Amino acid sequence: MRREANRRRVLSLMAGAAAAGALEPARAAFGDLGAMAQKAGVLFGAALGSPYDGDRDYAGLFSQARLIVSEWQFKLASLAPDDGVYDFSNADRLATLAMAMRKPLKAHCLFWQAANPAWLKGLSTARLRYVFDAHIDRVVPRYAGKVFAWDVVNEPFWPASGLPGGFGDGPWYQAFGPDWPLRAFQRAAALDKTAKLALNEAECDINQDGLGNTIRPALLRLVDTIRQAGARLDAVGLESHLDMSQPYDDAMFGDFVARLAERGAGVWISELDVRDFGLPDDTGERDRLTGARVESFLNHALATRAVNQVATWGLSDKYSWLDEIWRREHAGSTRRPRPLPYDRDFKRKPMWSAMASAFVKRAPLVKANSAKPGSAGGGHP
Ligand code: XIL
Repeated sequence: MRREANRRRVLSLMAGAAAAGALEPARAAFGDLGAMAQKAGVLFGAALGSPYDGDRDYAGLFSQARLIVSEWQFKLASLAPDDGVYDFSNADRLATLAMAMRKPLKAHCLFWQAANPAWLKGLSTARLRYVFDAHIDRVVPRYAGKVFAWDVVNEPFWPASGLPGGFGDGPWYQAFGPDWPLRAFQRAAALDKTAKLALNEAECDINQDGLGNTIRPALLRLVDTIRQAGARLDAVGLESHLDMSQPYDDAMFGDFVARLAERGAGVWISELDVRDFGLPDDTGERDRLTGARVESFLNHALATRAVNQVATWGLSDKYSWLDEIWRREHAGSTRRPRPLPYDRDFKRKPMWSAMASAFVKRAPLVKANSAKPGSAGGGHP
């Protein structure tokens, strides 16, 4: 109960501070990537979801965010913990908070083939099809007018599944085969005429067969399929969980982004952080290496004008999902991952400076009359 009371207190603090414009001091203290990104025609934001009960400073970090992304509140496992039983409380609370902070909210995600609730396992194809349609029909109208965008389909590809076209196996593929993403976009668009609809994928920054080298062409094909079917697809999100242990080629990634942009959708860097597990323990060295990588990555990505949204997957190392993974994989280790622009004490890191530099470098490319940041051809909230 105390945790819940704390959570509500922090949320009302964040909302109150936002409403009272008291976040200005926070911007002075923490810097303002949102303002720098805005000058570069980019909507900057971050995922919000990790526990921040009572952590006022963490709430203050978000003053610079011009977009809030739901980290888990809009996922099926959170909305429907039991078959047919919906609990909208966490999603409603985040939607209310984003509204009070006067920041657009991107709801992540309608469908993902991972991290689904246990009750989905073992359902018949017919039942899975019913659940799929019923979920969209129940959730999308509820938040119409309250969310700026939906990650409609998350990570449709996983070549290791061995399915044709590199599709990932999972409940939605079992239900509808390779047409499941198209069905999701068609149904969502019919239920919410204004939210931006995005297709979100991971691994595209990795220069390896079976991962990015296989997923990138598959993603281009899927974008073409969805658009050639006449369905509305406003943006493609590239998660960009950069992994310093994986082979990468930022110039190659930049070319891929340009090819995506040729299809007319916005391109969003949607979950930026850096997995530093394979780097030396020394935090100064790690921060230097990850900062350099982020700057190179963003410089190549932001060279394409259609990249108009950059979101990090959280803002501080203290609340990164990678911290959970590291502690699971390295029980007893005192080392902690350093994936985000702010360290565990909310101090700026080289990654923060790298992002600032990339936004400043891009700014002159932006024409005064260009589309507002975050627009995916369809404008900004
Ligand atoms: C992660 C959350 O951050 C974790 O808290 C959760 O335990 C697992 O999911 N790609 C995605 C996100 O699209 O939904 C994932 O978020 C991170 C990888």
